[in-house]
Amino acid sequence: MKALILVGGFGTRLRPLTLSMPKPLVDFGNKPMILHQIEALKGAGVTEVVLAINHQQPEVMLNFVKEYEKKLEIKITFSQETEPLGTAGPLAVARDKLVDESGQPFFVLNSDVICEYPLLEMIEFHKTNRAEASIMVTEVDDPSKYGVVVTEEGTARVESFVEKPKHFVGNKINAGLYLLSPSVLDRIELRRTSIEKEIFPKIASEKKLYAMVLPGFWMDIGQPKDYITGQRMYLNSLREKTPQELATGDNIIGNVLVHESAVIGEGCLIGPDVVIGPGCVIDSGVRLFGCTVMRGVWIKEHACISNSIVGWDSTVGRWARVFNITVLGKDVNVADAEVYNSGVVIEEQGL
Ligand code: GDD
Ligand code: MG
Repeated sequence: MKALILVGGFGTRLRPLTLSMPKPLVDFGNKPMILHQIEALKGAGVTEVVLAINHQQPEVMLNFVKEYEKKLEIKITFSQETEPLGTAGPLAVARDKLVDESGQPFFVLNSDVICEYPLLEMIEFHKTNRAEASIMVTEVDDPSKYGVVVTEEGTARVESFVEKPKHFVGNKINAGLYLLSPSVLDRIELRRTSIEKEIFPKIASEKKLYAMVLPGFWMDIGQPKDYITGQRMYLNSLREKTPQELATGDNIIGNVLVHESAVIGEGCLIGPDVVIGPGCVIDSGVRLFGCTVMRGVWIKEHACISNSIVGWDSTVGRWARVFNITVLGKDVNVADAEVYNSGVVIEEQGL
């Protein structure tokens, strides 16, 4: 089976992290976002993953692919657009890579969604309903920033699909995970086009689009606040599924993931809902909660970080406070006792 991951967005809502790294490679739970998906696809029997890229620095993506193709024993290839073609156009570009004689359906995933990926159940669902396209849906409180899916009363058949509705139509939303039969490709022209606005509404009107309700947690982690919420959900699910991966100790509260190469000093209080990356040094007396500390970060004595993201190789000074959805980019230096209350911080450029 094949799969395509849409990795060509600009990731503007996750700046400044995406100034240093393409969004799909930004770490989440101590691994690149798309690795969560590739591992799940492999688990569902996918043998080839096509990454639909457009502008990304190819060498960064290439290094990622080289490393994980081997580690995961899965074929990973690129399909590159010469200009951004939206969420459907890339499928037309990758057409030959997705279809083979078997006529099997293929997965399509948005690269920034995190959940438990019940992909085997999705294959069953698609078959049972003889769907042309199946999408996973989940319920959210504020559906306005998503694609909203309305199903026929008492069935899984989609009646209508409305991308980012202006008025309330329902709160069941497109979770960004699809299983598509090859015939869907015949509906997509080779131009900039949106699967949500142009393709799904058409398939729904022909009664061939089906929605499977996603069990478990879900979050689009493409914006800082949602990334932090998604991390809390992800750590919760680790607690249920593989609690041995989480840190324990007197200085740990709730769900905390610490890379084995990170060093944590005396008298720190860490958690709940914290991820500490490889090579991090956390000096004594530091307080961390609801935050991500990415690879190579140094947090000095008595600093306090909450509900924020600290980008790769940054340094946070003594007694500094970083809180309320602050995102530090890569290589940022927060001075001793400095305070950041929300917003984004990028590295100072040398003169
Ligand atoms: N190759 C390629 N080319 N990929 C693209 C392009 C493009 O021109 N534009 C966007 N993408 C990729 C992004 O990288 C992302 O993985 C995916 O397409 C969706 O784009 P987002 O920018 O993240 O869309 P969204 O979050 O506003 O909305 C989408 O996701 C929601 C769920 O998270 C829609 O699919 C909504 O319907 C859905 O509810
Ligand atoms: Mg998104």
